[in-house]
Amino acid sequence: MNLKIALLPGDGIGPEVLEQAVKCLQAVEETFNHNFTYKEALVGAIAIEKKRNPLPNTTLELCKEADAVLFGAIGDPKYDNDPEAKIRPEQGLLRLRKELELFANIRPVKIFPSLIHNSPLKKDIISKTDFIIYRELTGGIYFGEKKINAEGTVASDLCEYSEKEISRIAHLAFKAAKNRRNKLTLVDKANVLESSRLWRKVVTKIGESYPEVVLDFLFVDNAAMQIILNPRQFDVILTENMFGDIISDEGSVIGGSIGLLASASVGDENALFEPIHGSYPQAKGKDIANPIASILSAAMLLEHFGLFEEAMAVREAVDKSLEKSVVTPDLNAKSQYGTGQVGDFIAHNIVDSEDDINMNDENIGLGKSTII
Ligand code: IPM
Ligand code: MN
Repeated sequence: MNLKIALLPGDGIGPEVLEQAVKCLQAVEETFNHNFTYKEALVGAIAIEKKRNPLPNTTLELCKEADAVLFGAIGDPKYDNDPEAKIRPEQGLLRLRKELELFANIRPVKIFPSLIHNSPLKKDIISKTDFIIYRELTGGIYFGEKKINAEGTVASDLCEYSEKEISRIAHLAFKAAKNRRNKLTLVDKANVLESSRLWRKVVTKIGESYPEVVLDFLFVDNAAMQIILNPRQFDVILTENMFGDIISDEGSVIGGSIGLLASASVGDENALFEPIHGSYPQAKGKDIANPIASILSAAMLLEHFGLFEEAMAVREAVDKSLEKSVVTPDLNAKSQYGTGQVGDFIAHNIVDSEDDINMNDENIGLGKSTII
């Protein structure tokens, strides 16, 4: 298959982790005879620095022409600590989501058995967790009218949803539930918010066309509690933009590291793949950032194009790195493996998954170089 992939490394650890995902895609090309082409463009704080625009037009055009976008991370403390900043890196990502109409953000939360001890939560609570969050991505409070009065003392952000915006993602979520364990939970705040009551009405109606899927509802405050009390109860969670942002970070605690969670943002015409973690500026350039979320985002890209065997090869190589503890220090404080070495190890195992010849288990255990 030929695929044109736009690479948007962005800020902080974005470039380092994205580089590892590209290594893995190149390993897939080599192993399965595909031809992917990569073109890089600026986004975020680096784009503001170089082009005074967090989403330069050339970047947007490249993304529109590409079959898929692979995204690193966005954000810089310089802007986080300056509430007066008029141009912000995040605006680049938000505009990109809007322009490409990436209305559904899909975030799987699955426990890796080999990492179960990494989570701060008890093993019997989190074992066998396997759910997926469908977060609406181009509406709600993120994109509603923003106001601040002349004195700068009163501000508001409007949370607005239309039936159309709700129904297009609801259909995707119901279809996903049909292919999984037939359960869909709508997370909202319908006891307080009018927009949430519209979500309930629209989703309930759509549910009639998916009789095999059991639909239930949870208020977001209760959902926040249930996700860490009893995560196994969830199969597909459907929710609006901001609730999805918050509960997906919460979901990352289950797996023990936010450096593991991948996501796909899809619309009718475009698709973008990115780790859910942010730019982690403290780790920038230190070769300690976990590349797995970015690599698993590349696996989601492959799946999106029906390359299931290829995606599986990537996931299996990731599993191997976890089992052999060829991981970054967030997963094993004693590990001496850097971002690049973990990426090399995973890419190598995609090319030849049976090839254990050059691997020295003893060295792996000591956190020393193996094949790398
Ligand atoms: C995410 C991020 C973004 C969001 C930020 C960087 C704008 O937190 O993708 O979850 O809030 O959507
Ligand atoms: Mn977030």
